[in-house]
Amino acid sequence: MSIKEDVLSKLLEAGDVVSGSELARSLEVSRSAVWKAIEQLRKEGYEINAATNRGYWLASGPEALTLPEIRRWLAPGPIGARLEIHDEIDSTNRRAKELALQGAPHGTAVLARRQTGGRGRFGRSFFSPEGSGVYISFVLRPNLTADRAVMLTSLCAVAVARAAERAADGGIEAKIKWVNDVYVHGRKICGILCEAGLDFESSQMQYVVAGIGVNVGEMEFPPELSGIATSISNECGRPIPRSRFCAELINELNVLYPQLGAGEFMAENRARSNVIGRRVYVLRGDESYPATAVDIDDGGSLIVRTDEGETRTLRSGEISIKLDRE
Ligand code: BTN
Repeated sequence: MSIKEDVLSKLLEAGDVVSGSELARSLEVSRSAVWKAIEQLRKEGYEINAATNRGYWLASGPEALTLPEIRRWLAPGPIGARLEIHDEIDSTNRRAKELALQGAPHGTAVLARRQTGGRGRFGRSFFSPEGSGVYISFVLRPNLTADRAVMLTSLCAVAVARAAERAADGGIEAKIKWVNDVYVHGRKICGILCEAGLDFESSQMQYVVAGIGVNVGEMEFPPELSGIATSISNECGRPIPRSRFCAELINELNVLYPQLGAGEFMAENRARSNVIGRRVYVLRGDESYPATAVDIDDGGSLIVRTDEGETRTLRSGEISIKLDRE
């Protein structure tokens, strides 16, 4: 690798301010060689900020998703107060569970620029390429029983929808496909996977890991996803900085989380639903049946009417739905 590439990868790895002398020392080059490399990177379109006596950080560029940039947009709050950034990891949910079991405090976040083993619901994988997505998991410690866990997924979906609209400066309208997907213009931009650690005796949750994967930057999808997935940038027609989106998401989670117990956010969840009133296919294991989605109740369950006229209340656990034209 050239000195320029070495400097870039150090700035990416750090995701924070790095001093010129630290860069020079770790790469075993002179400080003027570091400075030249920074100048070359700037010419290539990387925005590298410098602060006297502190050093350099990567503000934007093809890969930028950095702590200093996120902090520019971040409001104070317990969620995201501790933020661990990885250039590459297997799964941020796996890492967040590990931290939860080690006693990490409520709100601890794990962010990755790409995942090699991103996990989705029902054991599926989650497409997590570098350069365009935000893959983030939060360790949360709600004082709720397990049957209310679904409320967290519904809360996260509202947070993602709001953050997407704010990061796009209102240029898009985000919808929620019960229970864990966020859509823009009829295609998926985000999936949410909440996993709980339970105390069996009390059925109280010890922790929940809320994992959120969002397609933010411009993206090309493999053929099997191109008709069903999109990204915020693809839909609003201009680049959306991932760091800004990430901060907006954390800010919204800090605003909404105190509502978890009373569930005020469910009104917005319903209002944003792209399912209510639609024909759907309910999928549970090998069973599938057509129905009409009627409502989402205050507990986050989907209420459907079957073609035989029976009303069923669907808790999300093992059930997913397909919209009629998917
Ligand atoms: C789904 O659509 O089925 C849910 C996808 C959840 C993906 C996110 S990306 C961040 C976190 N880490 C994971 O391994 N999965 C979640």
